[in-house]
Amino acid sequence: MKKKLLSMILAVAMVATMLVGCGGASSSNKVGVAMPTKDLQRWNQDGANMKAELEAAGYEVDLQYASNDIATQVSQIENMINSGCKLLVIASIDGDSLGTVLEQAKEKKIPVIAYDRLIMNSDAVSYYATFDNYMVGTIQGQYIKDQLDLDNAAGPFNIELTTGDPGDNNARFFFGGAMDVLQPYIDEGKLVVKSGQVAFEEVATANWATDAAQARMDAIIAANYADGTTLDACLCSNDSTALGVANSLEANYTGEWPIITGQDCDIASVKNILAGKQSMSIFKDTRTLASKVVEMVDAIMKGTEAPVNDTETYDNGTGIIPSFLCEPVFADIDNYKTLLIDSGYYTEADLQ
Ligand code: BGC
Repeated sequence: MKKKLLSMILAVAMVATMLVGCGGASSSNKVGVAMPTKDLQRWNQDGANMKAELEAAGYEVDLQYASNDIATQVSQIENMINSGCKLLVIASIDGDSLGTVLEQAKEKKIPVIAYDRLIMNSDAVSYYATFDNYMVGTIQGQYIKDQLDLDNAAGPFNIELTTGDPGDNNARFFFGGAMDVLQPYIDEGKLVVKSGQVAFEEVATANWATDAAQARMDAIIAANYADGTTLDACLCSNDSTALGVANSLEANYTGEWPIITGQDCDIASVKNILAGKQSMSIFKDTRTLASKVVEMVDAIMKGTEAPVNDTETYDNGTGIIPSFLCEPVFADIDNYKTLLIDSGYYTEADLQ
C-alpha cells in the first residue's frame, strides 16, 4: 500500500516538475501521438479515436504511423519533440528501442504516456494505459478450457500455440496468462502439443504478421496433422495471427475445424467468427482506451492527478509505471451482436 502511494506521488511529482519546466511560456498545446502501423485495423481506430477526442478537448494533434519500422518511429518521435509537442502518447513497435530518443523528451521535460504497449527501460515514461494484458490471455485459455470441457472430457486433445512479437511486452502477458490456464492440462497429458513447440520463443510471431503465422502453421500441419490427425484447438494471441492460422488450415487441413482464439475483433476475424472459422476474439473497445488516455493527457496538461488503477504490475526495468488497465471481454458467435453491433462499434454492413 505504501509502495503504491509512493509510486503515485512520485509520478504526479515527476510530471508536475516536467510541466513547470515547460514553463507554460509557449501557448502550444500540441500532443504527439505515435502509432506503430496502419496494417492492423485496431491501430487505425486507436489513432483516429485519439485524434478526434484530443481535438474535441482542445488539443492540437500530431498523429504519425511508422509502418512497423523502428527507425521511422524513432525519427517521428524526434520530430514531435523538436516541433514543440508538449506531451507524447506512444504505442511502440519495439518496447526496447525508444530509450535514446526518449532521453531527449526527458531533457525537454515532455511527459510520455505508453499507449497499449509498455515502453521498456526508459525512465522518461510517466504513465501506461492499456487493457489488462494478462487477463486477455487467461480469457483465451479459459475459453479453450470451457469449449473442450477439459475438467470432464477424457481427451486427449491436440492443441497448437501461436503468440506475438517478442519485442512487444504484451505478448508475454498474453501468452503467460493463457498458459497459466492451459499448462496444467498439458502437464497431465489431456492437452497435447504435437509440434512440441511450447516455449514463448518457439511460438512467437515476428511483427504479429499474418503470413509468418501462416507459414509456421503450414509446417506444423505438414509434420503433424497431414495424416488426418485432428487438431482440436489453436491458441492464437491475436486476430492477425489467428487469420494466418485459419488460412493455413483452410489450405492444408481436412479434419474437423479447431477452436481458434483471437484478439481485437478486427472485421476480418469477426467475419471468420460468423463463418465458423474463428471461435472468439477478445474485444478491446479502442474507444474506451482512447477516452482514458485523453483523460490522462488532460490531467497531466492541467497539472492534476492522472487516473490510474494499477501500481504493481508493470515494471519497465526502471521501476513500476503507474497504469490504467481497461477490462477486456470476449466476443463469440453468441454475444457479438450485443457487444459489437448494439454498442455501435460496427454496423451490420461492416460485417458483410
Ligand atoms: C496489442 C494487440 C494487437 C497486437 C498486434 C498488441 O500489443 O495489444 O491488440 O493485436 O499488438 O498489433
